Amino acid sequence: MPEVLIAPSILSSNFSCLAEEIKAIDKAGADWIHLDVMDGHFVPNLTFGPPIIKSIRDYSKKPFDAHLMVTNPDDLLEEYVNAGVNIITVHKEVTPHLDKTLNRIRELGCKAGVSINPATSISGLEFLLDKLDLILVMTVNPGFGGQKFIESSLCKIKLVKELVNDKPIKIQVDGGINEVIAPRVIDAGANVIVAGSAIFNGDCVESYSNNIKALRCNI
Ligand code: DX5
Ligand code: ZN
Repeated sequence: MPEVLIAPSILSSNFSCLAEEIKAIDKAGADWIHLDVMDGHFVPNLTFGPPIIKSIRDYSKKPFDAHLMVTNPDDLLEEYVNAGVNIITVHKEVTPHLDKTLNRIRELGCKAGVSINPATSISGLEFLLDKLDLILVMTVNPGFGGQKFIESSLCKIKLVKELVNDKPIKIQVDGGINEVIAPRVIDAGANVIVAGSAIFNGDCVESYSNNIKALRCNI
């Protein structure tokens, strides 16, 4: 069985004590910290950007995994890197020069990812495989936590798995993942699980740790 990583999304954390939440989720066994950056344009919601990411960087040594749900990701790449992000994922739908953007992310010393919405095809990604460290298959329409997993995502995850084959590219899934869905997406080929509401539930390290264990237990 391949290694599966758990990346809790802090979108579902308590923002009024973000530093404490980062410490707690680190201690609870997160592999990566997933940062949902939303701009109010590409997605309806707004969250945070480089200054807030920088302010929490010192509270965990785990990789910071930035999911940029923004229409103009190219404009701030350097700022995200300076804020301490390790992985930058941009959306295929809004990145016209994807090849160039991925090159730039790697030049800046980060791992490079591309994300595709539920209605977006994987077409074109076959030309970018040598520039990608991660493909993020959105399993809900991005913008909000706590939504229902979209079943047709399973078919897309399998297509991505065929495309990636044995290349060192992570297959990440994001949205509506809980302990029931997790084994199904992993079976389809996913190896990085993002989860927000299923993990930040219970308000303390012990509950977060149990929630992470529950996600791992059927794997
Ligand atoms: C959705 C975000 C997700 C979201 C996942 O736009 O990209 O990371 O927070 O939340 P849950 O696990 O609650 O669906
Ligand atoms: Zn996300």
